[in-house]
Amino acid sequence: MTTTATALFSDRIGRIEISATMAVTAEAAKLRAQGAKLVDFGAGEPHFATPQHIKDAAIAAIQANFTRYTVVSGIPDLRQAIVERHTADFGSTYTPDEAIFTTGGKLALFNAIQVLVDHGDEVILPVPYWVSFKDIVQYAGGKVVYLETSEAENFRVTADAIEAAITPKTKAIILNSPSNPSGAVVSPADLERIVRLAHERGIWLLLDECYVYLQYTGALVSGGSFTDCKDHVVVLGSLSKTYAMTGWRAGYALAPKPVITAMTKLQSQSTSSTASFVQKAAVAALRGPQECVAEMRADYLTLRDETLGRLNEIPGITCTVPEGAFYVYPNVSAYLGKAGVPTAMELSRRLLNEAHVVTVPGEAFGTDHHIRLSYATSHADVEEGLNRMKTFFAKL
Ligand SMILES: Cc1ncc(COP(=O)(O)O)c(C=O)c1O
Repeated sequence: MTTTATALFSDRIGRIEISATMAVTAEAAKLRAQGAKLVDFGAGEPHFATPQHIKDAAIAAIQANFTRYTVVSGIPDLRQAIVERHTADFGSTYTPDEAIFTTGGKLALFNAIQVLVDHGDEVILPVPYWVSFKDIVQYAGGKVVYLETSEAENFRVTADAIEAAITPKTKAIILNSPSNPSGAVVSPADLERIVRLAHERGIWLLLDECYVYLQYTGALVSGGSFTDCKDHVVVLGSLSKTYAMTGWRAGYALAPKPVITAMTKLQSQSTSSTASFVQKAAVAALRGPQECVAEMRADYLTLRDETLGRLNEIPGITCTVPEGAFYVYPNVSAYLGKAGVPTAMELSRRLLNEAHVVTVPGEAFGTDHHIRLSYATSHADVEEGLNRMKTFFAKL
């Protein structure tokens, strides 16, 4: 065959890279298979089991043969449950035809961007960012406009910074609050100003609220609650972190009806509906007791404080205080360039191979001087992992 590889594949698949967090997971899996006892701060997923009443609902659905195709956007009862939960928790006013249930929050984001972003459109993305945002925008042909945030100000995104980044070509803004990887939370006042700005300028505001229930300071806030100016807001939600359901693939979007209609059209030509019994489990999650969410949040907060406390014992490492999600994003620049560790990527690799601690290098999130640790793990692992890190850095 004489055709070159680039001609064999589409232009758009060449615009994206495999998720960097998945690359780390693969390297860790290799070591694990060789018998290494790793402490895993890499995985961005709850260490809790899915609550029993949610599992029971899925089992009951299967036993009742609720195992067929459903309508593409999700069964009406589920879309009703999504909007009722959001209204109860955040005072929003969405109706079921302004909701779609998707195969994970990631697909809600992917579909929303495919529907809203065209070639050459600019999309503002605050740095540090969750890995997938830039690739999904690039897949759609959009141009990512990176918005640097200040570590001295806890990586917080402000309305002033967003306003200054807007150009005539800005089609959308992506906000992820609380943020993966930094745990930064946009203040309620700034969030309201950003929603109003999007409304006034006719710019789509994509709010990734996958960690919205994991905020540790003040009341829980969603950008979907500013009901008088939600015409350009797309709320992207997920049950993955809130209810410890990462493997179930359960996410949703709340948006104006035409956006949901377009997302449904796209979904009808790709995944169709999500798994039928997962939808029943999602109804149980959203309508059932919510104490499990508060209990998990309380444990994450303790884990955050333990992790920060132990990190602060390592000379040279500094770390912003995350106000949400379950990650810390320490600055490791004091150790870069010394002892043959040129980059955060190499530091993560050495931490994995020499200390058997899994972290994700900051390059994956758009900053070069950090590593990300997920503290969604046991208290014993936080203790053991930070002991190993302390010993590792002392030798560098
Ligand atoms: C910021 C952010 N958005 C979306 C997702 C995707 O979550 P889901 O499991 O619902 O696809 C993740 C998962 O790590 C995330 O961190």
